[in-house]
Amino acid sequence: MTDTGIATARTTPAERTLAQLLDARISCRAYLPEQVPRDVIERILELAQQTPSWCNTQPWQVAITEGEGTERFRAGLAEYVRTHPQESDFDWPRAYVGEHKLRRRECAMQLYASVGIAPGDRAASAEQTMKNFDLFGAPHVAIVTTHEALGTYGAVDCGLYVETFLLAAQSLGVATIPQAAVAGSSRFIHDFFALEEDRRVVCAISFGYPDTENPVNGFRTHREPVAHVAQWVSR
Ligand SMILES: Cc1cc2nc3c(=O)[nH]c(=O)nc-3n(C[C@H](O)[C@H](O)[C@H](O)COP(=O)(O)O)c2cc1C
Repeated sequence: MTDTGIATARTTPAERTLAQLLDARISCRAYLPEQVPRDVIERILELAQQTPSWCNTQPWQVAITEGEGTERFRAGLAEYVRTHPQESDFDWPRAYVGEHKLRRRECAMQLYASVGIAPGDRAASAEQTMKNFDLFGAPHVAIVTTHEALGTYGAVDCGLYVETFLLAAQSLGVATIPQAAVAGSSRFIHDFFALEEDRRVVCAISFGYPDTENPVNGFRTHREPVAHVAQWVSR
C-alpha cells in the first residue's frame, strides 16, 4: 500500500491469489476417475454466478453430468461424432491467419510433443483430437449455453462465465478444460439434455481431478507480453 492507501501493483493478497490461480490453471487433458463431490461442484457454480453480463442478463445456463450421466454422455457423443458431420450453433473460425495461425500451430505442436506424436503424424494427431469426445477421461462435463436472442454478446457473457468457472474450479483444486470441439455436436447435446430450442451451445467444460503423472498435462502454453497487445494514448 502507498501512504494514500491506494494499492500499488503486486502489493495486495488478492492480487497474489489471483496471480497464483491464473498461473496454476492449465487446460487439463487427462483426469483421475474420482468424482468431484456435489458440494464442491455447487460451490464452483455459486462462485461462477458472480460473473458480470451485459444488462445483468446472466444468459448462461449450465447442464452438468456426474456418475453414469457422464458415461452415457461420453458414449453417446463418441458414437454421434463417428456418424454425423460437425455442426455448431456458432460460426467456427473462418480462418487462422498470421500470428493466430502461428500460435495455433505452436500449441498443437506442444500438445503432440508432450505425448510423443511426431510432427506430420496425422493418424496419431487425429487420434489425440478424438480424445476430446471422450472428454479426456474427465468424470464430469458442464455444457454452457446462451439464449439465441442475445446474439454475440450473449456468447461473450458466457465466455466470461467460463473463465470464472475455470478459476473457481482451480481455487478448489479441480482441473478443467473448455472444449469448443464438443459444441460441434450441438444436435446431440440438445437432445441429450432436452435443451429448449432457443438455447445455443457455447462450449463444454470437462472437469475433475488432474492426472498429474500424465505427460499431456506437463506443458505450458505461452502468452505474448502486454506490449504486444496494449495500445496507449497519453496525450
Ligand atoms: C473457448 C475455448 C475452447 C477450447 N476448445 C478446446 C478444444 O475443443 N479442445 C482442446 O483440446 N482445447 C480447447 N481449448 C483449450 C485451449 O487450447 C487452451 O486454452 C489454450 O491452448 C491455452 O492453453 P491453457 O488453457 O493450458 O493455458 C479451448 C479453450 C477455449 C478458451
